[in-house]
Amino acid sequence: MEAEAALREQAQGCGELGSPLYAALLERLADDLAAGGPTARVLRGHEHDPGPSALALRLLGSVHRLVLERRAGALAAYWPSVGGTWDDADGTAAVLDLLAREPDLVAEWLDRPPQTNEVGRAAALVGALRHLPVAARLPVRLVELGSSGGLNLLADRLPLPEGAWRGPTPAPWPGLRLVDPVGCDPHPVDVRTTQGRLTLTAYVWADQTDRLERLRHALDLAQRHPVDVRRSSARELLAEVEPREGAVTVVWHSVVWQYLDEAERRDVTARIDDLAARASASAPVAHVAMEPRRRHPDAPREMLVTLRCWPGDGAEQVLGVAAPHGVPVVWERESPSP
Ligand SMILES: C[S@@+](CC[C@H](N)C(=O)[O-])C[C@H]1O[C@@H](n2cnc3c(N)ncnc32)[C@H](O)[C@@H]1O
Repeated sequence: MEAEAALREQAQGCGELGSPLYAALLERLADDLAAGGPTARVLRGHEHDPGPSALALRLLGSVHRLVLERRAGALAAYWPSVGGTWDDADGTAAVLDLLAREPDLVAEWLDRPPQTNEVGRAAALVGALRHLPVAARLPVRLVELGSSGGLNLLADRLPLPEGAWRGPTPAPWPGLRLVDPVGCDPHPVDVRTTQGRLTLTAYVWADQTDRLERLRHALDLAQRHPVDVRRSSARELLAEVEPREGAVTVVWHSVVWQYLDEAERRDVTARIDDLAARASASAPVAHVAMEPRRRHPDAPREMLVTLRCWPGDGAEQVLGVAAPHGVPVVWERESPSP
């Protein structure tokens, strides 16, 4: 996709997903690119990057990281993530000034894919766990595929954001406890390092302060409660998993399926079926997902929260629909009451 179109398309997406700052700024940067300004210099060589490579988010992630590192001069005054106040005209001028002064520094992060770990998605996971059959309410052995920094492995410790759930509230599970949660990612982000924390923070949109606050809280929590994220693919991690006596094994993933190739999707599905076939009342197995899907071929894509569990028929239940960054989740069915 042409870079200018990519910036404008992302501007629209950011507007729809609640980031007026990025929506306005990306439109201005697209204008500047078209006029051959500093944006054109920074994006040289990326004019034809493929659409899914999210050029606009790589660019703004790079700018945001310089602000967070206090290397962006006057721009900090306009960046809400560090206490500034956005102003369309002056803020854009400050970004363009940064691009003009430090084109190589900004371009440094254009060659890496945006990496995020959306802590809000834990609200979908926790709500889905509360939909497990009462008989399966055992300690939860959580197995996460595509964990990024692994912050959602702390789901039982993360506070539920205000207004996180709409529709029928899932019945409480007071003793909910994760045991030995484990995750995997071919490109894990190490949240014990400054660089890892900077990466995850920089790709959050700078005016989405709720999202940033959730992330920062989870990053702090992860310093005290280290997460176990293996450098491996979903297929490799699942191959090591077995149903466990006295625990419910929950395989979970959010916004990961699109990254698996056909062969890996088939293997992961087959492995979950295999675990399901060996599930028992004392070692149940469940599959929870939050993935963009269509309910039927003509339906729009929605972030469906789904659950299957075994022993039982393992029929998939659509529990609700989440916002792309996790919250709010609109639940569609009652959960079983203990
Ligand atoms: C959009 S992120 C979602 C991260 C996390 N699940 C969340 O919701 O915040 C997708 C993640 O999938 C990972 N990924 C890509 N290929 C994968 C694979 N074959 N197996 C497991 N994870 C993979 C990426 O590295 C990336 O961290």
